[in-house]
Amino acid sequence: MTDRRRFCLAGAAALASAQEPPGTNYDESKVPAYSLPDPLRFSGGGEVRSPGDWKRRRGEILRLFEREVYGRTAAGRPEGMRFEILSGAEPALGGAALRKQARIHFSANPDGPKMDLLMYFPPDSRGKAPVFLGLNFLGNQAVRNDPAVALNRNWQRNNEAAGIAGNRATEASRGAAAGRWAVERITAAGFALATACYADIAPDNERDAFRQGVLPLYYREGQQKPAPEEWGAIGAWAWGLSRALDYLEQEPLADARRVAVMGHSRLGKTALWAGAQDERFALVIANNSGCMGAALSRRRYGETVAAITKLAPHWFCGNFLKYAGREDDLPVDQHMLIALCAPRPVYVASAEEDRWADPRGEFLSLVHATPVYRLLGADGLPAREMPGLHQPVMGRLGYHIRAGGHNVTGYDWQQFIAFASRHFGVKGE
Ligand code: GCU
Repeated sequence: MTDRRRFCLAGAAALASAQEPPGTNYDESKVPAYSLPDPLRFSGGGEVRSPGDWKRRRGEILRLFEREVYGRTAAGRPEGMRFEILSGAEPALGGAALRKQARIHFSANPDGPKMDLLMYFPPDSRGKAPVFLGLNFLGNQAVRNDPAVALNRNWQRNNEAAGIAGNRATEASRGAAAGRWAVERITAAGFALATACYADIAPDNERDAFRQGVLPLYYREGQQKPAPEEWGAIGAWAWGLSRALDYLEQEPLADARRVAVMGHSRLGKTALWAGAQDERFALVIANNSGCMGAALSRRRYGETVAAITKLAPHWFCGNFLKYAGREDDLPVDQHMLIALCAPRPVYVASAEEDRWADPRGEFLSLVHATPVYRLLGADGLPAREMPGLHQPVMGRLGYHIRAGGHNVTGYDWQQFIAFASRHFGVKGE
């Protein structure tokens, strides 16, 4: 499969043409000299010396990401939220899993926005399984060709190869993203997978993101779009992940204290922001998350802030747009997003050909988050030099780079399972 087709499968066809503007830097020797903001120094200048100091500094950093990057999340758990069981645990996938589906109504209004959560548990589940929770691009029906899974009804980017036509998922989309979700591998290793479509939370286009989905639920009278410091689409998607976790907290087959939040690409950025804000997530995995995900922005290698704000301004808060071409003026860089998760385990995965996402920049964020982990008595990333292909490094922070392009593969899942097994005390594969 070509990289181009893989990219299309991400549901990003319409965005692809905007990629790689002329002048994109892929030359390591042209990465400018930069100095990173120090996560262990207060905004006022004092040094962060103890776990108690870090608590305060963590608050400062969180506020900066809210105000300047992803926007402030409007609310926690909505008052009228309710869960509806669409189908109880039943054997599925030829006996490899138990399937269950739940609907999360985000408000008391039955016609309001709602998100369908598809869950596959180990087939012999009796107790509570640890969970990989991740949003998907094309709808739950694309995760497996499993006819019992409800077709997604929300707006999607057109994508003929993946069975999305007229901006809606068709029957042809069943299983279209199966290569990205190692369901049988996950359940065989003793984990559950819970997934929902990001389009159920907020549509991924500039025109509708602020008019449909959950963002308008929180508008004041007469408000048409979020204020400059209020959340955008990444903020909304991250909030949706927290609502899925609310559901898992009362799901008898799931262990909500061992949930690994995972995402690919823009949903990798989302997983990091979800993990940074919501400390109930026990572990965070960002796959090929790139610019405004795990990659350091100040390197301006591959995608830059100017490119991403042009491509998808609706992902961020209004305040972020002023940083196009001004990376050095950002009060944060992405190592601080990882540091917000400390001391919880975080895993970052890169792909060799995914230069747009800046693999080295993704690695360096972990290196520069490590002092915060150390301060909290954890080891951080046990490597200073970037490892070669297929040589995963795993401490409290973990990293690998594999051959190939922008995608989630069986190799990636093998490492995610190994990393989560080690931290969750699961036997694994
Ligand atoms: C584009 C965008 C990236 C994003 C990716 C995706 O490539 O520039 O920032 O990660 O789409 O989400 O597929």
